Parts: sequence; C-alpha cells; structure tokens
Amino acid sequence: MELSTERLRLDALKESDAPALFGYRADPEVSRYQGWRPETLGEVECFIRNQSARSAPSPGEWFQRAIRLAEDGSLIGDLGVCLSADGQAEFGITLAPAAQGRGYARETLHGLFGELFGRLDVHRVHASVDPRNAASMALLKTVGMRQEAHFRESLQFRGEWVDDVIFALLAREWRELHGRGAGFAASR
Ligand SMILES: CC(C)(COP(=O)(O)OP(=O)(O)OC[C@H]1O[C@@H](n2cnc3c(N)ncnc32)[C@H](O)[C@@H]1OP(=O)(O)O)[C@@H](O)C(=O)NCCC(=O)NCCS
Repeated sequence: MELSTERLRLDALKESDAPALFGYRADPEVSRYQGWRPETLGEVECFIRNQSARSAPSPGEWFQRAIRLAEDGSLIGDLGVCLSADGQAEFGITLAPAAQGRGYARETLHGLFGELFGRLDVHRVHASVDPRNAASMALLKTVGMRQEAHFRESLQFRGEWVDDVIFALLAREWRELHGRGAGFAASR
C-alpha cells in the first residue's frame, strides 16, 4: 500500500529510516501516550525488518507505513493500521516534533480514510486515545471522527490507571462528509 497526498507520500519503512524513526519515537514527549518507546536503535532496526516483509495490510497484524515529505522523501512520521477480518480498521499516527502543527497528520488521515473506505472497502475505522492527549483528540475531531466512548481508568499504562476514549467513523459518514472517493489522491 502506497499513498500520495498533496504534500506527502506514505510507503514502506526502510533500514535507512531507523535513526530518524528512533530519534522521534524515543522522545518522551512524543511517546508519552504511546505503548511503544524504543530504548535502542537496534530495537527500531528490528521493527523495520519485521515490517519489510509486509506489502499490504492483513487482518490482525499492525501494518506500518512511513510518512514522508513528497518533495524530498524525508521521514517525518509513521502510521500504523490494523485491519480486522470483519472489515474494520484501527490506526495510530506519530509525527516528529518538527513536523507537528502543520496539518500533516490531518492530510495523512484524509489519505488513509480515502484508501480504507475506497479501495479496501472498510466499514468502520476507530482509534483509541488518552483524553489528556490534546493534539490527538483535536486531530481525530478535525478529521470528522465521532467520540463513541469514554472508559474511566480502564487501562493500566506505565504503572497507572488511565482513561481510554474511542473515536470512530463509518464509511457512509465519510462519504457524506466528503463525497465518494474524497482524499484518495493515488494508491497502488
Ligand atoms: C497526534 C499528532 C499526530 C497530531 O499531529 P499534529 O501535527 O498536531 O496534527 P495537525 O497539524 O494535522 O493538526 C490537526 C488539528 O489538531 C489541532 N491541534 C494540534 N495540536 C493541538 C493541541 N495541543 N491542542 C488543540 N488542538 C491542537 C490543529 O490545530 C489541527 O486542527 P485544525 O485542523 O482544526 O486546524 C501529534 O501530536 C503526535 O505525533 N503526537 C505524538 C504521538 C501520539 O500521541 N499519537 C497519537 C496516537 S493515535
């Protein structure tokens, strides 16, 4: 799965991405609300090697794409997608601090939803977020997702009980918002 948006390209992670990926994923601010905080470059290299065997999402497995600037191919973040066998999808997105606040996350999700609801015929997309993660809460609202649930202290995370908010979007809601095929710039 490769996608292009106006300013971005989403494609496979490469071995040469490891230092940049480690740089932002190991940043405590970036990984504050995320389950994965790599401790070594080797851990990231191993992650990329495991992903390199996958060219398309398959049910039950997290499928990770690089988010790159179209103009020079530099890595600015990554996007994970997990499909379920019944036609649903969950995702998680991470941007390097220098790339945040420029609308790249919104543009990435717009491209992703076009692909999921278009070519992959997914019925429902959802995401799970810690409500203290203000940037993520804002992002999910701005792309048209609905808050469906707020579970109080339902997860144990780094030694504390934390809340979990679920956002979701149905294929028909996406089409109502954007028209059939919206955000689907190119894919192969
Ligand atoms: C979550 C994340 C990807 C959002 O990236 P971003 O660069 O802020 O996203 P965008 O620039 O596309 O902005 C999306 C919207 O959120 C708003 N926003 C961003 N940060 C905000 C904040 N702290 N408070 C309120 N709104 C905020 C933007 O103004 C924009 O709204 P608009 O479309 O109405 O203008 C980024 O903060 C990140 O990588 N965080 C660390 C990893 C993480 O926690 N990921 C979440 C896992 S799902």
